[in-house]
Amino acid sequence: MERSITWDSGTIRTLDQRALPHERRIMRLTTVDQLVDAIETLAIRGAPAVGVAGALGVALAARHHTVDGLLDRPAVQVQAERIATARPTAVNLAWGVRRALTRLPEGADAVLDEALTMLDEDEQANRDASARAARFLREQCGPGPLRILTHCNTGRLATVAWGTALGTIRELAAAGQVQEVIAGETRPLLQGARLTAWELAEEGIPHRLCVDSAGPAAIATGMVDCVIVGADRITARGDVANKIGTYPLAIAAQRAGIPFVVVAPESTVDVTVLDGAGIRIEERADEEVTHHAGQLMAPVGTRAFNPAFDVTPADLVTAVVTESRTLRPGGELAERVAARIQVVADFPTPGVSFQDLGPLYADPALVRDTATAIWRQFQGRFDCVLALEARGFPIGSAVAQRAGAPLILARKPGKLPGEVVSVSYGLEYGNDRLEMQSDALAPGARVLIIDDVLATGGTLEAAAQLVKGSGGHIGGLAAIVELGGLGGRGRLTPHEVFCVHDVT
Ligand code: MRU
Repeated sequence: MERSITWDSGTIRTLDQRALPHERRIMRLTTVDQLVDAIETLAIRGAPAVGVAGALGVALAARHHTVDGLLDRPAVQVQAERIATARPTAVNLAWGVRRALTRLPEGADAVLDEALTMLDEDEQANRDASARAARFLREQCGPGPLRILTHCNTGRLATVAWGTALGTIRELAAAGQVQEVIAGETRPLLQGARLTAWELAEEGIPHRLCVDSAGPAAIATGMVDCVIVGADRITARGDVANKIGTYPLAIAAQRAGIPFVVVAPESTVDVTVLDGAGIRIEERADEEVTHHAGQLMAPVGTRAFNPAFDVTPADLVTAVVTESRTLRPGGELAERVAARIQVVADFPTPGVSFQDLGPLYADPALVRDTATAIWRQFQGRFDCVLALEARGFPIGSAVAQRAGAPLILARKPGKLPGEVVSVSYGLEYGNDRLEMQSDALAPGARVLIIDDVLATGGTLEAAAQLVKGSGGHIGGLAAIVELGGLGGRGRLTPHEVFCVHDVT
């Protein structure tokens, strides 16, 4: 594959990304001034591409400051600092510069050697990350063909070659697993409309553009199976800085229960920054917003808010995939649930270990993710949710909302008005009775029954009897926590049982 950036006879040779898609203009940069300008004006852009360009820039500087075999190291350091700070958000730029500088004591040739190694490594890293991300998406979404939404440009132009998120799309498309890509136009500089559309057309991958504000709507209306984006900086906690407009896509993806996957090389991970608050977001000129194609669009003197990037918090990120790992920044759901359960010994009676889910219910993001997991497990297989008193109510309600399905409450005796159906059952500690209003279920309704804890299985079994006795069908049985050691699941066959966390 043609490389977007190379070293050619003492110059940095690159495609001018400002001129695409209508003009294929090759640039040969021979000075640090030219390189800094190219990075600032986005002739070279995309985190991995600027990283490698930064390293090649140090090589340029080292050659220029070598006279009669003598290298002026302080002069190179000054130039290196200028390059490293040409744009602040993508950590790859400073990383590339720093890495090239490690060879400065060995002379200009060694610096160039390092930069050329980075050039090769970038292409390989992108290919490896893309293959890994494609595997992950197949696991998450099935074999497809998938409808994918992406943002900005993360393709061969934004990297040395192949790309990250767009590399993943390439990988899936080569296996016949892409139905359509929806690409956000990426205001205000239109990296999506100009560059991503160009690369997708080059590959013959079916695609459509949308205005950035339509991305969340496409997700919300079921037009998208997954969102794949790149990154400019990923913090130790897993917060992700990427092109402005990424964050709303992540919110929409989480709300719709579809994966939001970030694909980036390891060089984009910055463990020196704990969370998004520590990332400097580049703010660009007002004119990029107030003008269109050089024409003033807004009233004279209008100011603009023009951040180039936003930060997506870790809990909205399904996975960050690099060339060497698949990180789940939000943490595996079961682990997060486990961390939020308080076990109270001898409550409510001696010998019983009470699983208190109060701390879990106090964590809205965790309730939402748990509800999403249950909904996804039974998606399309239930018409309504039956939540069991009392601690099944919050999670049942969250699942019903998530699915857009009606919620029905099964209650303890004497709480429901009108005619009820009723079932007695044995608990881990004593006996109880469960009731449901006789007319609660539409005939033949498929019911997803939800409680907080599956212990002996008595409560869920009783609820299943209520449903069947009222003419309904069991769509599934779910709880947040399972005390697997009590074998309650065995009482619930042949129905499908799903629990997020087993505390056996
Ligand atoms: O301002 P840009 O065009 O450099 O922003 C680029 C992005 O936000 C990309 O998504 C990111 O750098 C990853 S490119 C593989």
